[in-house]
Amino acid sequence: MHNFVYEIPTKVYFGQDQINNLGKEVLKYGKNVLITYGGGSIIKNGLYDKVVSILKNHDINIYKLSGIKPNPRIESVKEGAKICKENNIDVILAIGGGSTIDASKFIAASACSDIDPWDFFSKKAPITSALPIITILTLAATGSEMNSTGVLSNTQTNQKMGRDSEMLIPKVSFLDPTNTFTVDKYQTACGSADILAHIIEVYFNNENDLYMLDSIMEALMKTVIKFTPIALNKPDDYTARANLMWASSWAINGFIDGAKQHSWSAHSIEHQLSAYYDITHGLGLAIIIPKWLNYCLSENTVDKYCQFAINVFNINPNLDKFEIAKLGIEKLSDFFYSTLNLNKTLSEINIDDTYFEEMAKKACKGDKINGFKTLTETDVINIYKMCL
Ligand code: NZQ
Ligand code: ZN
Repeated sequence: MHNFVYEIPTKVYFGQDQINNLGKEVLKYGKNVLITYGGGSIIKNGLYDKVVSILKNHDINIYKLSGIKPNPRIESVKEGAKICKENNIDVILAIGGGSTIDASKFIAASACSDIDPWDFFSKKAPITSALPIITILTLAATGSEMNSTGVLSNTQTNQKMGRDSEMLIPKVSFLDPTNTFTVDKYQTACGSADILAHIIEVYFNNENDLYMLDSIMEALMKTVIKFTPIALNKPDDYTARANLMWASSWAINGFIDGAKQHSWSAHSIEHQLSAYYDITHGLGLAIIIPKWLNYCLSENTVDKYCQFAINVFNINPNLDKFEIAKLGIEKLSDFFYSTLNLNKTLSEINIDDTYFEEMAKKACKGDKINGFKTLTETDVINIYKMCL
């Protein structure tokens, strides 16, 4: 078991009407706020007006940047940083899902720097300071509301890259499950696939010495499996939305890792699909994960699959271990493709093998993915082929 440091400094206001604390939290950082958001869902559901009214009541000066796209582009970061510099912005208020929050993290960093924002990704330029970020989460999925990571796309180079820094951790996040009532079935499904993927990437690990965290991960996975169908059938079910929201934050805020070595194998493979084809992140993961798990199943890894199948899907422990493992993957596939109604193959979403080699190269960053099973470029190509 490795030593580790655990620190999640984000202050979380969880629940309905906690937004009433927004004014005082913003004022801790200053009077000039940049509100960032996406394509307008927050205008339609009334959240934007509610926020503006609270900020105005506190005499806060409001600037805004809208139009941040899913799979956010580096151009939004440049635009946001310019607004920050020109208007002495003190704090960024990101209202939305992972795309808005991720872009806002790099707007915050770029506002304090003169380098080209893409250098944070392509050249790993140091992030030495950033404006404070407050988030109002509207979609349970990425965990960006409570972590140090952001993922941005560069459409000119077909690259989608992640970067983290403790400078980027939101200072405060407002998690009101009612703000997710308007998320449609597809995005709810993709969000849940993403939450599950974050847990699975850590859970399927060769370091089995943290029983406590394995048990917590199993509980988190069962939470997603139990409550997603409820949220799909009844979008305003508070309990279901609340369970998904809190699971999304804890799936990827650093807690469940416990310093276990893991490589985000399925994520590296998926990010290339989003980069080349602009698909929804959670959909790509739902297609890849069962194939990746099948690919990694071997005598060395089978015990972990059994633990998963038995503890998460109640598979009969008396069966042959490979049968148990396969049944676990089947149950997970059923969840993705039947319960969540997500596509099963790349062909279904019109993706063929044209870029498999290029994508595999980028996924492996010219090296290998040293995860649960070490994956070479050839392995990644094989997994893409299994997804066709
Ligand atoms: O843009 P608007 O109009 O707001 O609509 C969005 C968007 O179309 C809509 N939506 C969000 N909240 C809504 C809503 N519609 C109705 N009602 C609401 N309350 O949902 C669509 C998708 O939004 P997006 O922010 O793109 O979704 P998500 O939260 O899944 O974020 C995905 C991005 O995060 C990255 C992904 O790669 C992807 O770029 N990730 C970030 C991570 C992190 N920071 O740690 C980790 C993840 O693994 C992931 O890579
Ligand atoms: Zn993800």
